[in-house]
Amino acid sequence: MKRITILGATGSIGGSTADVLLRHTQDFQVYALVGHRNHERMLELAQALQPQWVVMTDSEAAAALKGKLPQGMKLGDSMDHAIAVATESSVDIVLAAMVGAVGLPAALAAVNAGKRVALANKECLVTAGRLFMQAAAKSGAQVVPVDSEHAAVHQCLAGHDKASIRRVILTASGGPFRDRDPATMQTITPAEAVAHPNWDMGAKISIDSATMMNKALELIEARWLFDIEPDKLTAIIHPQSIVHGMVEYTDGSVVAQLAEPDMRGPIAYALQMQPRLASGISFLDLAKHGQLDFQAVDAQRFPAMRLVADVLQGGDSLAIAFNAANEVANQAFRDLRIGFMDIVQIVEKVLEISEDVSVQSLDEVWSRDRESRSITESMIQSLGG
Ligand SMILES: NC(=O)c1ccc[n+]([C@@H]2O[C@H](COP(=O)([O-])OP(=O)(O)OC[C@H]3O[C@@H](n4cnc5c(N)ncnc54)[C@H](OP(=O)(O)O)[C@@H]3O)[C@@H](O)[C@H]2O)c1
Repeated sequence: MKRITILGATGSIGGSTADVLLRHTQDFQVYALVGHRNHERMLELAQALQPQWVVMTDSEAAAALKGKLPQGMKLGDSMDHAIAVATESSVDIVLAAMVGAVGLPAALAAVNAGKRVALANKECLVTAGRLFMQAAAKSGAQVVPVDSEHAAVHQCLAGHDKASIRRVILTASGGPFRDRDPATMQTITPAEAVAHPNWDMGAKISIDSATMMNKALELIEARWLFDIEPDKLTAIIHPQSIVHGMVEYTDGSVVAQLAEPDMRGPIAYALQMQPRLASGISFLDLAKHGQLDFQAVDAQRFPAMRLVADVLQGGDSLAIAFNAANEVANQAFRDLRIGFMDIVQIVEKVLEISEDVSVQSLDEVWSRDRESRSITESMIQSLGG
């Protein structure tokens, strides 16, 4: 029986993880569920999954659960409690699915404690990829990707010689605005941007998919996760989201992973790579799909893809600024303070004035993260937002 803690349990990935785990109650036991504010959803999950611990990192949300949880279930109300349940010695797997860099301390603590970390929270690797993977190498923690593209690449790399890799290729659906007239993109509303054609995801990543910041973040994530030189990393538009990732080898062979677009697939893979776990996703009927399309990424329509090329070649500080500016601008767009096209333009302006250096400590990650957030907020205010 494997014991698991789910960070970000109340979100979209958390819900898909619960669905997979409820299919395998003989093999997995939930030790702790961690959420932030959504106490109503947490109550449902706690009743279904019967963890020993429930943690709401927002203390008011925790207070709302007092007296409502099943008998004997313990309640935590802070990020310190989240870190404690992610590092508890009896826990085998930590599913890291908080959204944003705020998830880094708990995910990194799990890595330092040598857990298997099933990582959805890509912002951890974008902001502190070098330190995160160094910590995993030191503690022996296994970091297994949950992001569908990286889970695909992980499978395409298995059993292959790293020196034979020519390119790692992440697919991108292109989001809801792949074919939209660029002249009308500034008027896009948050409701339009959140409506992803293939995936049902949380609000932040849905907006990131629409701007293609998500793919940009994923390229940085892949750089650290697979220790791949930036010039071997690329992305291609694939509107159907059936091929999730590919690795091209030096003999011209391309190994790809295909599946229906449903996050329960990569989650099941990250929980237990072998033998494969039943995930609940539909089996792929290629004849029914009939056609799979691919096209080059248009960096003019999606400037995030142009920006990430520089970030990948630059120092760690640029990736921290890129992520922080995006988190703040993404939220400002959702709050109707800026337009859709402003998101990436603001990220670009923050990058232009950011130092390009390597970062040696977590303290430095946080101080640069804070500084970039404050610069971004000032820019948004100067735009009238
Ligand atoms: N959704 C997908 O299909 C998908 C696919 C690939 C990768 N990912 C990645 O997985 C992560 C989670 O995505 P998601 O779509 O599941 O997001 P989501 O639905 O918005 O859920 C986010 C989770 O993080 C928690 N959270 C939010 N703010 C927090 C804070 N300040 N402190 C602690 N916890 C906080 C939320 O808690 P409350 O809701 O209780 O406030 C919730 O449990 C992201 O990094 C995303 O890029 C998602």
